Amino acid sequence: MNSYRIGILGGDGIGPEVVAEGLKAVEASGVEIEQVPYDLGAGRWLRDGTVLPDSVLEEWRSLDALYVGAVGTPEVTPGLLERGLLLRMRFELDLFVNLRPFHAPERSIDIQVVRENTEGPYVGEGGILRKGTPHEVATQGSVNTRMGVERCVRFAFDLAARRERNHVTLVHKTNIMPFSGDLWQRAFDEVAVEYPQSETAYNHVDAACIYFVNSPERYDVIVTDNLFGDILTDLGGAVAGGIGKAASANLNPARTGPSMFEPVHGSAPDIAGRGIADPTAAILSAAMMLEFLGEPDAAGSIASACYAVGDRVSGTVAIGDAIAESIAG
Ligand code: IPM
Ligand code: MN
Repeated sequence: MNSYRIGILGGDGIGPEVVAEGLKAVEASGVEIEQVPYDLGAGRWLRDGTVLPDSVLEEWRSLDALYVGAVGTPEVTPGLLERGLLLRMRFELDLFVNLRPFHAPERSIDIQVVRENTEGPYVGEGGILRKGTPHEVATQGSVNTRMGVERCVRFAFDLAARRERNHVTLVHKTNIMPFSGDLWQRAFDEVAVEYPQSETAYNHVDAACIYFVNSPERYDVIVTDNLFGDILTDLGGAVAGGIGKAASANLNPARTGPSMFEPVHGSAPDIAGRGIADPTAAILSAAMMLEFLGEPDAAGSIASACYAVGDRVSGTVAIGDAIAESIAG
């Protein structure tokens, strides 16, 4: 039997609470993992100023995957851990696809969002001139490379081809972003030619927000840029059962290093330590990890258990126990 070495970053707030339930589900599924714990996040930073040592990043390259809870607390400068830990992980490990599934059959929702994960406005291009003066100037660019866009678009078409509907929608804002929009649209159209069986569509991101609420059944696979994908997937969480159910996989599909799996939600300091956080998003993220590692049966049994338990149980540990029991049973 395979055993996998997984880096575990519980992080802050509800992070460690939900990660514990994810690990419980993995254990119940019978897949063997060796946990390599990392003490990183707000707690560590406040203690000794460490965000992410280069040596740790190097160590991660030999792991099979990373499993993350959430990082950040109100005491930490906003952006510091996001950029120094989360985005650095995404960029340096080349986790170029952020895959975020939404599943709510009662609302006809079965959507996979393929969010570009290493470019766009997230690269931090731009700057401020004449700061603090009346003539202050701020620019914030969006970086889109043909290679970066094309590999995501191709991932989306490959994913769609394995699904029943085989339908891919490009979401962008080509009307007001003619440069990046043009690159995305051309990459999408050219890749689409290689997938003659796939149906395609295009929606502006603002229209997609309405459709997510009013007619989500129109979507199968969506491919979109980093920032649009960030916003759209919070909305996806909200319409498909709440953010407590939204899982994500930060993938390096080329498998040149470990991929990273984390719930879409944050550390929720307001409810930390109260045992009331829904661990389902973290558990479903663990299922995505097993799927990507080549354990589809275990992944399927964890996901089915999550859907079976649904909202019938409350409390972090009680939900985790119910899901683990359903997996084992
Ligand atoms: C997410 C989060 C991150 C993002 C933040 C914490 C940097 O909102 O994973 O969706 O914007 O990507
Ligand atoms: Mn987000």
